[in-house]
Amino acid sequence: MSSEIIEVKQLTKQFKLKKAVNNVDFKIRKGDIFGLIGPNGSGKSTLLKMIGGLIYPTSGEIHLFDNAVERNHAYFERMGLLIEDTGIFPHYSAYKNLDLTAISYGLKNRKKHIHDLLDLVGLDKSNKTKVKNYSMGMKQRLRIAIALMGSPDVLILDEPINGLDPQGISEIRKLIWDLNKTGITIIISSHILEELSKVATKYAILYHGKVIENITKEELLLQCEDRIEIEVDEAEMAVLILENHLGIYNYKVMDDRIIHIYDTASGSQQITKKLAENNIYVHSISKHKQTLEQYFLERTGNGGETHD
Ligand SMILES: Nc1ncnc2c1ncn2[C@@H]1O[C@H](COP(=O)(O)OP(=O)(O)O)[C@@H](O)[C@H]1O
Ligand SMILES: [Mg+2]
Repeated sequence: MSSEIIEVKQLTKQFKLKKAVNNVDFKIRKGDIFGLIGPNGSGKSTLLKMIGGLIYPTSGEIHLFDNAVERNHAYFERMGLLIEDTGIFPHYSAYKNLDLTAISYGLKNRKKHIHDLLDLVGLDKSNKTKVKNYSMGMKQRLRIAIALMGSPDVLILDEPINGLDPQGISEIRKLIWDLNKTGITIIISSHILEELSKVATKYAILYHGKVIENITKEELLLQCEDRIEIEVDEAEMAVLILENHLGIYNYKVMDDRIIHIYDTASGSQQITKKLAENNIYVHSISKHKQTLEQYFLERTGNGGETHD
């Protein structure tokens, strides 16, 4: 079996006039924390609902655990879902809410399983408070516990940190890491890249229903690291000068003309001068500083909503 446990091919969802998800391809490997980023209305929830088996695609394929789900819907049972407003009963305690879910799953030995889940998500087993009086963060923990009821292999979390305060965000982040360490693959969406930057290991950027970029955490951080970008005629020749004359080793050759230098202590003037002395003409040199949010906004226009 390959290590890809989710693969979607040309996945599309058309609602009357609106193509909410448009020919999306991606692969998720076992153990990934996969971040789906996109502005409001870009198709995140629709995409996640299809992967979770809540709605049918208009066209395209979903493969779960190396199987095309078209032929076997049982694979959806291995997905745990927190999508939009997963129902919780406000007038019941967390325990009672979980018990109702456990009954619907037909679980035996419910009490033990529920206590384990409450422990796992960090909610107090003996707390009889009605859920309506819970903080947003506690409600999200409960929703995650509900999503975990069927002991899923994959947990789909649609904007789980939306509306949480910084403390709540960092707690949910920690919970996601803890769950991931137990072997659960996680898909998490957000319209704020910064929120996911600390938790996801891979990202897809969704814009107007299309994946416009797939990027790993390392690549993303590298993109946003301070650097000096230079353009020369022959990058391979230039890096010899950088190394031998300037002692610069922390660089990346992007193509045969462009070099990114991460050792930003080196001055631009000094670099230009040394290269010129060695007959390498510098076409351009610039300092590049970008936050994660700028990176995201640059790719999604103004980053505003994509509702039309
Ligand atoms: N059931 C539906 N019927 C018609 N249009 C829908 C439906 N669900 C979502 N849409 C539209 O599809 C687009 C993507 O929505 P959604 O997947 O909810 O985006 P996101 O979760 O990224 O905010 C939006 O334009 C939305 O209005
Ligand atoms: Mg949504």
